[in-house]
Amino acid sequence: MSDTVRFLLGENDIPRFWYNVNADNAVPPAPVLNPMTFEPVTPDFLSALFPMPLIEQEISTERYIEIPEEVREVYKLWRPTPLIRARGLEKALNTPAHIYYKYEGVSPSGSHKSNTAVAQAFYNKISGTKAMTTETGAGQWGSALGMACQMYGMALEVYMVKTSYQQKPYRRFLMETYGAQVFASPTDLTEAGRKILAADPHCPGSLGIAISEAVEVAAISGGTKKYGLGSVLNHVLLHQTVIGEEALKQMDMAGEYPDVVIGCVGGGSNFAGIAFPFLRENLRNGQRTRLLAVEPSATPSLTRGVYAFDYGDTAGMAPIVKMYTLGRDFMPPEIHAGGLRYHGMAPTLCSLYDQGLIEAVAVKQLDVFDAAVLFTRCEGVLPAPESSHAIRAAINEALDAREKGEKRVILFNLSGHGHFDLSAYHAYLDGALENDDLPEDALRDIPSHLPKIDLQKLGIQ
Ligand SMILES: Cc1ncc(COP(=O)(O)O)c(C=O)c1O
Repeated sequence: MSDTVRFLLGENDIPRFWYNVNADNAVPPAPVLNPMTFEPVTPDFLSALFPMPLIEQEISTERYIEIPEEVREVYKLWRPTPLIRARGLEKALNTPAHIYYKYEGVSPSGSHKSNTAVAQAFYNKISGTKAMTTETGAGQWGSALGMACQMYGMALEVYMVKTSYQQKPYRRFLMETYGAQVFASPTDLTEAGRKILAADPHCPGSLGIAISEAVEVAAISGGTKKYGLGSVLNHVLLHQTVIGEEALKQMDMAGEYPDVVIGCVGGGSNFAGIAFPFLRENLRNGQRTRLLAVEPSATPSLTRGVYAFDYGDTAGMAPIVKMYTLGRDFMPPEIHAGGLRYHGMAPTLCSLYDQGLIEAVAVKQLDVFDAAVLFTRCEGVLPAPESSHAIRAAINEALDAREKGEKRVILFNLSGHGHFDLSAYHAYLDGALENDDLPEDALRDIPSHLPKIDLQKLGIQ
């Protein structure tokens, strides 16, 4: 077994259950608030956007939720994904650490996003939805939902962050090939988009704005269109736990157990997907794996944000949730990891981070691309810039292990491939990429941008 590189499971090993970390979180979830009334949302409010089975999953405290056979059938197109020992990278780093990665880039649309896209499209389909709307940053989520909607015979409108729309035309073409309609957000098709364009006609867009547009279109459709979100919400994190469940089995095949599990975070879903099953083992079975979330220094919500109630989108149409946030009108620099340009973070992940059960670190764009290129040259796989944040942190861990002479077992999630991100690689190789650090005063004002919630009235200190 000693020089095995790929640890592979069979179709029968595709997990039968998603793991719901809320069953094991000692801190009850903060209420989700209606953005107009600041009162806790009702299922009625949510049902304008989501089908009932997803709302039930959103609030469930059941530890395990059965994956429908129909979804497992579609998962067979790419699951189980391989666990790979990065022997070339270990050698290049001359480290005693063992580095493993779970490779989600083998999904048809190229990332982990398909794990929840197929589930969300399935539950929408059986609930009678005819069309869906969504936002996309890098285009990975839009492609994944495009594929899933096509499979279930539903139409899809995608509001794509304008910078990514311009930087990644081929992502757009992929979504259109799957049959989706794609718009560069902000658009003049929605009230939210028109307001933003009136204030700044050259606005490059953000995930928060694109969410506002997609939510608005679904909310005023009279029930004919539902909205799908690619991250942040509990049901999305839940669907991603197939990653960690498979990784647990594969680490067992490798005869090792990780000291540290790493994932990049935009809204938190691929990190949650790999980390939560290991967190369960920490909380219930006495393991002590460190769980490390990696964000860009340009949008450092966990490491420099404020833990408070804030809108999930920019226009204030999406529910208000308690999360680490940079403020809903935070305009992220145009970094190339478009999927990480979100002002907030999944509330469940934030709660666990607040309790010290998860660690976080912010890394700089140029360090990320250094790591991505080294990885490509050692392992052959071209990683998505988002996923490369995890690679950077894994390399840092391996170098630290070398310095301390420790045999550390490192597992990271390679959430997607970067085949549509070559313009970013080109810019890096040309020396045209820069670090986008945020000065201290860019974040000084966050509290004054937050909604004023009466915590006492809600019975929260
Ligand atoms: C490849 C890839 N990884 C990670 C992310 C970040 O999202 P999340 O934190 O929900 O995994 C994105 C978002 O678009 C992505 O495309």
